[in-house]
Amino acid sequence: MDVSFSAKQIAPSATLAINELIATIRAGGEKVYHMGFGESPFPVHSRVRKALCDNSWRQRYLPTQGIIELREQISGFYQKMFDLQYSQEQIVIGPGSKPLMFAALTALDGPIFLPAPSWVSYQHMGRFLSRDVHHIVTLSMNSYRLEPDLLELAIRAHSPDRDQQKVLVLNYPCNPTGHTFSSKELKELADVAREYNAVVVSDEIYALTHFRDQEHHSIAEFYPEGTLVTGGLSKDRSLGGYRLGALLLPPDEKQLLRSILAVGSELWSSVSAPIQYAGIEAYRTDTELVDYIEDCAVVHELVTRYAYKRIHNMGVSCPYPQGAFYLFPDWNSQREALQKKGVTTSNELAKHLLKNWFLASLPGVEFGMPPDDLSLRLATVDYDGASAYKAFQKRRKSAIKDPESFVLSIAPSVVEGCNQLERFTAELD
Ligand SMILES: Cc1ncc(COP(=O)(O)O)c(C=O)c1O
Repeated sequence: MDVSFSAKQIAPSATLAINELIATIRAGGEKVYHMGFGESPFPVHSRVRKALCDNSWRQRYLPTQGIIELREQISGFYQKMFDLQYSQEQIVIGPGSKPLMFAALTALDGPIFLPAPSWVSYQHMGRFLSRDVHHIVTLSMNSYRLEPDLLELAIRAHSPDRDQQKVLVLNYPCNPTGHTFSSKELKELADVAREYNAVVVSDEIYALTHFRDQEHHSIAEFYPEGTLVTGGLSKDRSLGGYRLGALLLPPDEKQLLRSILAVGSELWSSVSAPIQYAGIEAYRTDTELVDYIEDCAVVHELVTRYAYKRIHNMGVSCPYPQGAFYLFPDWNSQREALQKKGVTTSNELAKHLLKNWFLASLPGVEFGMPPDDLSLRLATVDYDGASAYKAFQKRRKSAIKDPESFVLSIAPSVVEGCNQLERFTAELD
């Protein structure tokens, strides 16, 4: 059969090829250290589980925008947690933030600008929509941070007409680098975006996974009229499989809201009814639920910074993580030694590590890096979240004081993954 033009814009992803390799290796009885997969492992909070059970009788379609009670709860959540004011009319509920992002990109006109590296799906969404997608090269020595002058240069190069609308997608804390922006940096980016008529789609799904020495600010604080914020339950509440996300729109964008709802109504109709009602519980901001979110973020911090320290001590370049549960190291300075092993691209590097060291990772090229940039995205969540959470509740003080012993006890597979990386890197010298 003939495949459509839009479908041809999306190539089968290297992540799938790697998953198939993992399956083959596991079928042969070998253990794989899984630093390729990034899902927060903590258990569903008991109150959210109960709310889901209690609402399992609800079988009807709900409004595409989401039920008002949930939107009001989310409005209160953003007010309390981030000091952002959104009325329930400005909020759209969707089956995860990913389809909401797709609906927003469908509705917004203009070329799409993405920092490189950035999360895998944005570029595919843009291409699927037959839009011009421009990656903005950032520097590893600046933690791949998008700086205002880089943004301005990219916009001037690709879309010099100031009046033409552009779309900039930002994500912080960032998958894949773990980097986040300070409020000063966000304000500077907001100034450029405003000057060049760039709408910002601000992916803040990791907002509450920031580490204790960071704060989360939204660019919407500085550019409320030009920012769409996405968030949801998948990361800080470990509820990826619940598929519940929220999109926050600027005030008075009625046409935009109508278009986004039109996309939603044709694609998913409404989010599952029991999940929306369970979402009301998950978006509460009492101490118990906020403590749960914060404690999970601390465990992410301890494990991710442990892995960072190990990688840094190997002499491998890697941005210092400030949130989420990822690292983005690169082996560019070992290029010659790697070439001798037949490794010249990030895809080959990821395959080499999997075949020879049983370590799964994702190649940097999937995140918009040039194919020959020898970067990898490593996830630091290959452990049992329920026992890790329990252990942290029991020994919080000692875990914070001595993170290494804590990580050795709760995340042996992450530790062994780091050992494998160390052996591999030592062999290159
Ligand atoms: C940067 C980023 N944005 C969005 C998502 C999708 O989240 P959701 O489960 O809300 O669709 C992910 C999930 O991996 C992500 O890493």
